Amino acid sequence: MVKKLVLLSVIGLSSLMAANGAKLYAAKCAECHGGDGKETSVAGKAIAGGSGALAKLNGYKNGTFGGDQKAIMQANVAALSDSEISTIASYVDSLK
Ligand code: HEC
Repeated sequence: MVKKLVLLSVIGLSSLMAANGAKLYAAKCAECHGGDGKETSVAGKAIAGGSGALAKLNGYKNGTFGGDQKAIMQANVAALSDSEISTIASYVDSLK
Protein backbone atom coordinates (compact mmCIF):
# COMPACT_ATOMS: atom_id res chain seq x y z
CA MET A 1 0.00 0.00 0.00
CA VAL A 2 2.69 2.46 1.03
CA LYS A 3 4.79 1.36 -1.93
CA LYS A 4 1.86 2.01 -4.25
CA LEU A 5 1.40 5.49 -2.83
CA VAL A 6 5.08 6.29 -3.24
CA LEU A 7 4.98 5.04 -6.82
CA LEU A 8 1.90 7.10 -7.56
CA SER A 9 3.48 10.25 -6.21
CA VAL A 10 6.65 9.64 -8.24
CA ILE A 11 4.57 9.23 -11.39
CA GLY A 12 2.58 12.33 -10.45
CA LEU A 13 5.74 14.33 -9.91
CA SER A 14 7.34 13.36 -13.20
CA SER A 15 4.25 14.26 -15.20
CA LEU A 16 4.14 17.55 -13.33
CA MET A 17 7.76 18.17 -14.30
CA ALA A 18 6.98 17.38 -17.93
CA ALA A 19 4.16 19.91 -17.83
CA ASN A 20 6.48 22.50 -16.29
CA GLY A 21 9.09 21.74 -18.95
CA ALA A 22 6.56 22.40 -21.68
CA LYS A 23 5.48 25.62 -19.99
CA LEU A 24 9.03 26.88 -19.46
CA TYR A 25 9.96 25.94 -23.00
CA ALA A 26 6.93 27.77 -24.43
CA ALA A 27 7.74 30.88 -22.39
CA LYS A 28 11.51 31.04 -22.84
CA CYS A 29 12.60 29.04 -25.87
CA ALA A 30 9.80 28.66 -28.42
CA GLU A 31 10.12 32.18 -29.79
CA CYS A 32 13.45 31.19 -31.37
CA HIS A 33 13.38 27.41 -31.62
CA GLY A 34 9.70 27.02 -32.53
CA GLY A 35 6.98 25.40 -30.44
CA ASP A 36 8.06 21.97 -31.69
CA GLY A 37 11.83 22.62 -31.57
CA LYS A 38 12.09 22.31 -35.33
CA GLU A 39 12.84 25.91 -36.23
CA THR A 40 16.16 25.92 -38.08
CA SER A 41 16.58 29.56 -39.02
CA VAL A 42 17.98 30.75 -35.68
CA ALA A 43 20.44 28.14 -34.47
CA GLY A 44 21.07 26.79 -37.97
CA LYS A 45 19.74 23.44 -36.83
CA ALA A 46 16.63 22.13 -35.13
CA ILE A 47 16.94 21.18 -31.47
CA ALA A 48 14.14 18.58 -31.74
CA GLY A 49 15.37 15.04 -32.30
CA GLY A 50 18.63 15.69 -30.51
CA SER A 51 19.93 14.51 -27.19
CA GLY A 52 22.17 15.79 -24.44
CA ALA A 53 20.30 19.06 -23.99
CA LEU A 54 21.26 19.12 -20.31
CA ALA A 55 24.99 19.10 -21.06
CA LYS A 56 24.54 21.72 -23.77
CA LEU A 57 22.47 24.07 -21.62
CA ASN A 58 24.87 23.71 -18.68
CA GLY A 59 27.71 24.27 -21.12
CA TYR A 60 26.16 27.52 -22.30
CA LYS A 61 25.71 28.56 -18.70
CA ASN A 62 29.30 27.85 -17.66
CA GLY A 63 30.87 28.85 -20.98
CA THR A 64 32.15 25.41 -22.05
CA PHE A 65 29.78 24.87 -24.98
CA GLY A 66 28.60 26.92 -27.92
CA GLY A 67 29.12 28.09 -31.46
CA ASP A 68 29.36 31.49 -33.14
CA GLN A 69 26.12 32.67 -31.61
CA LYS A 70 26.59 31.29 -28.13
CA ALA A 71 26.21 34.72 -26.52
CA ILE A 72 22.51 34.54 -27.39
CA MET A 73 22.06 31.24 -25.59
CA GLN A 74 24.23 32.29 -22.67
CA ALA A 75 21.85 35.19 -22.11
CA ASN A 76 18.90 32.78 -22.22
CA VAL A 77 20.19 30.32 -19.66
CA ALA A 78 21.96 32.75 -17.33
CA ALA A 79 18.87 33.46 -15.26
CA LEU A 80 17.62 29.86 -15.11
CA SER A 81 18.12 27.78 -11.98
CA ASP A 82 19.70 24.32 -12.16
CA SER A 83 16.32 22.70 -11.63
CA GLU A 84 14.70 24.80 -14.36
CA ILE A 85 17.54 23.85 -16.72
CA SER A 86 17.15 20.14 -16.03
CA THR A 87 13.36 20.35 -16.39
CA ILE A 88 13.66 22.19 -19.72
CA ALA A 89 16.42 19.84 -20.90
CA SER A 90 14.26 16.76 -20.32
CA TYR A 91 11.50 18.41 -22.30
CA VAL A 92 13.83 19.36 -25.17
CA ASP A 93 15.19 15.80 -25.34
CA SER A 94 11.61 14.51 -25.53
CA LEU A 95 10.92 16.60 -28.68
CA LYS A 96 11.07 14.32 -31.71
C1 HEC B 1 16.78 34.71 -28.85
C2 HEC B 1 16.74 33.40 -29.52
C3 HEC B 1 16.90 32.15 -28.69
C4 HEC B 1 16.19 31.80 -27.57
C5 HEC B 1 15.10 32.57 -26.82
C6 HEC B 1 16.67 30.47 -27.20
N1 HEC B 1 17.62 30.04 -28.07
FE1 HEC B 1 18.59 28.25 -28.02
N2 HEC B 1 19.79 28.84 -29.54
C7 HEC B 1 19.72 30.08 -30.18
C8 HEC B 1 20.88 30.22 -31.04
C9 HEC B 1 21.19 31.42 -31.91
C10 HEC B 1 21.65 29.03 -30.89
C11 HEC B 1 23.01 28.70 -31.51
C12 HEC B 1 24.05 29.21 -30.50
C13 HEC B 1 25.49 28.81 -30.80
O1 HEC B 1 26.06 29.33 -31.77
O2 HEC B 1 26.01 27.97 -30.05
C14 HEC B 1 20.92 28.19 -29.96
C15 HEC B 1 21.32 26.92 -29.58
C16 HEC B 1 20.62 26.07 -28.75
C17 HEC B 1 20.96 24.69 -28.44
C18 HEC B 1 22.14 23.90 -28.96
C19 HEC B 1 21.89 23.33 -30.33
C20 HEC B 1 23.08 22.47 -30.70
O3 HEC B 1 22.93 21.26 -30.67
O4 HEC B 1 24.13 23.04 -31.00
C21 HEC B 1 20.02 24.22 -27.56
C22 HEC B 1 19.93 22.82 -26.96
C23 HEC B 1 19.11 25.31 -27.31
N3 HEC B 1 19.49 26.41 -28.03
C24 HEC B 1 18.05 25.24 -26.46
C25 HEC B 1 17.33 26.36 -26.03
C26 HEC B 1 16.44 26.36 -24.90
C27 HEC B 1 16.12 25.13 -24.07
C28 HEC B 1 15.96 27.63 -24.78
C29 HEC B 1 15.04 28.17 -23.70
C30 HEC B 1 15.60 28.20 -22.36
C31 HEC B 1 16.53 28.42 -25.85
N4 HEC B 1 17.37 27.63 -26.57
C32 HEC B 1 16.21 29.76 -26.09
C33 HEC B 1 18.71 31.01 -30.04
C34 HEC B 1 17.81 31.05 -28.99
